[in-house]
Amino acid sequence: MPVITFIEFDGTKHQIDSESGLTVMEMAMKHDIPGIDADCGGSAVCGTCHCFVEVSSELPAVEPQEESMLGLRPDRESNSRLSCQLQVSEQGGDMTIRLPEFQM
Ligand code: FES
Repeated sequence: MPVITFIEFDGTKHQIDSESGLTVMEMAMKHDIPGIDADCGGSAVCGTCHCFVEVSSELPAVEPQEESMLGLRPDRESNSRLSCQLQVSEQGGDMTIRLPEFQM
């Protein structure tokens, strides 16, 4: 399975062997990675699971609900995503997830 490397805002790294069927947000919560709040539990309505994604393979397109949440982020970058909308799969490659300074 692909490896997910979470990098906190202060540079602290956490490497996790991913589990198929979980989202990146669920992986972070399961392994107590700081920096993702996930207040809505993965419904794409809070935006507190924002992250910056670095992958070699193509990610699924941003859906309208995710887009509306990302649009509220002042720190949005071209690789911003909601981690609750990113499904982990065996076919996907390793991922690096950088976490923002704060969730809002
Ligand atoms: S957990 Fe709320 S938008 Fe992702």
